[in-house]
Amino acid sequence: MFEAEKFGSPFKGRSLLTWRDYTPEEILQILDYAFLVKKQARDGEVHQRFLGKTIALIFEKRSTRTRSSFETAFGEEGGHPVFMSTQDIQLGGKESVEDTARVLGRMFSAIEFRGFRQEHAEMLAKYSGVPVINGLTDEYHPTQALADVMTLKEHFGTLKGLKWAFCGDGRNNVARSLMVISAKLGIDFAIYSPKELFPPKDIQEICEPFARESGAKIEISDKISVVKGADCLYTDVWVSMGEESLKDERTRLLSPYQVNESLMAATGKAGTIFMHCLPAVKGQEVTEDVFESSFSKVWDQAENRKHTIKAIMLALIQ
Ligand code: CP
Ligand code: NVA
Repeated sequence: MFEAEKFGSPFKGRSLLTWRDYTPEEILQILDYAFLVKKQARDGEVHQRFLGKTIALIFEKRSTRTRSSFETAFGEEGGHPVFMSTQDIQLGGKESVEDTARVLGRMFSAIEFRGFRQEHAEMLAKYSGVPVINGLTDEYHPTQALADVMTLKEHFGTLKGLKWAFCGDGRNNVARSLMVISAKLGIDFAIYSPKELFPPKDIQEICEPFARESGAKIEISDKISVVKGADCLYTDVWVSMGEESLKDERTRLLSPYQVNESLMAATGKAGTIFMHCLPAVKGQEVTEDVFESSFSKVWDQAENRKHTIKAIMLALIQ
């Protein structure tokens, strides 16, 4: 039987806007919760831990996995999720973000926000007074990063001594979140991307002290040698949501960084796995053969989105 107090008080009422704001111990604690809720789901246990609670799911951008995870994880636990796209609400349009936040804070136990500006996630948290969970912004995708760490740990049995390499658009939200969580947890992390798409200095500076503390080695390079020794190659779309006009330039810049059999071989390791946050554009950032291979863990990652999101909500929502 699940004990409510397991989802401890240090988290209650907090928002998750980026993992920057969490200690390594706190991240690992929520990761443990995720393994627990996954086991409970496997064992067919039914719980009603969100009974009487409500969550607003704001989506300015499209989603399959994130929306499905939040909506099913909250609903099957007895809570009431309410989906709101920009067709439905006035976020930052006719009504300011501050005012929308203050209204939602009076009606909901929590808010999930997927949108463009990280600043809007911060404003929602500041003015609503309820926990806000970042379901992806231009800058960060923290719930994705936790699912990815879970998948890594599930596959290798440990996070100790692992290295993963993100190949592609090194400045995007997924790459940044993986950098933050790796720096926090002491996982070696490489970005293999063209210089034009290196992550900005500010995120590197944010991660430096975390990496120093945890012992994580963070490398950023346009040289293929940076993937050497990687236990996992990770990629994401070349063109993120909202950047559609940059498609031609991105294709030109990123074609040499495609994850294919020869890049997998460049790790020099036997058991390297492949990960992708999805959705994938096969034939661009990854070849069909790598995507469909036995070492591709993309479906485990997708499933783990739900378990990690449930764990995050159980930890944060009062
Ligand atoms: N990985 C991810 O966030 O997927 P969706 O865009 O489908 O939510
Ligand atoms: N970087 C991608 C991630 C999608 C889950 C995007 O922002 O579109």
